[in-house]
Amino acid sequence: MKIIKSISSLKKEITKNKTKNRRIGFVPTMGALHEGHLSLIRKCRRENDICIISIFVNPIQFGPSEDLAQYPRDKKKDKLLAQKEKVDIIFYPSKETIYPRRFLTNVEVTEISDILCGKKRKGHFRGVTTIVAKLLNLVEPETLYLGQKDFQQTVIIQQMVKDLNFNVKIKIGPTVREKDGLALSSRNAYLNIQQRREAGVLYRTLKEAKKRAESGKYTPQKIINFTSQTIRQESKAKIEYIECVDAVNLKKINNFYNKTILALAAKFGKTRLIDNITINGTKKNKTQT
Ligand code: PAF
Repeated sequence: MKIIKSISSLKKEITKNKTKNRRIGFVPTMGALHEGHLSLIRKCRRENDICIISIFVNPIQFGPSEDLAQYPRDKKKDKLLAQKEKVDIIFYPSKETIYPRRFLTNVEVTEISDILCGKKRKGHFRGVTTIVAKLLNLVEPETLYLGQKDFQQTVIIQQMVKDLNFNVKIKIGPTVREKDGLALSSRNAYLNIQQRREAGVLYRTLKEAKKRAESGKYTPQKIINFTSQTIRQESKAKIEYIECVDAVNLKKINNFYNKTILALAAKFGKTRLIDNITINGTKKNKTQT
């Protein structure tokens, strides 16, 4: 496994592998690797000749009052885990390598970046699309692997790839969960014992909400109310949003047509957790655009 820090060395490796017609798969990460990342890495490993991951805590996707400084970093452990999964290359650039002085360009997907998580996290998705665009240009993968937990991120990146004609396929891996259903996230490490115990309410409630929604007896608003009430009753979490949106265009829906996502963000103390579940609508008379 190679650990590459500079753009020139990465480019050399990419050219070498492209010349040999090797399929390159790519998993972008911010490190603190957990089973969620590892499941994507395994899929990438299985489906490609070359498996590349990036580890870069991208400062421009954190707001001024967010957790950039505290974000968990463990290079040694990440390296061991990546090695075990037979990753070929870790791209491990410095901040200066990615954002040299007079870096003046941003990539922004309008409309769907300032709703849901983007409403409170101003500029977050602009930071994500800017770094992912850069990484795609550097790694030139055939396939990009992303996790369903960050569902809005997957929709925004898919839109960017389509709009800017990036030549890459995107594959979304399922959310990996703890025994009680809590979605794996590097930020789970911030939770204290009580918050951790309470955080199981999120997925428990999403699952019950899905069952109700798919029974066809409830409107999206009723499902949102149920989810909100249950989480409030069973934890001290502060809900940031709970919404039912179309899985393709992220528009709020009034009926369970097609594929819908019930998505939420809630704060346990200072820790903001997100999760979502797919609802297969029973009313099928609308086409998704
Ligand atoms: O999901 C993440 O870890 C990050 O948003 C990503 C895609 C690596 C960009 O920094």
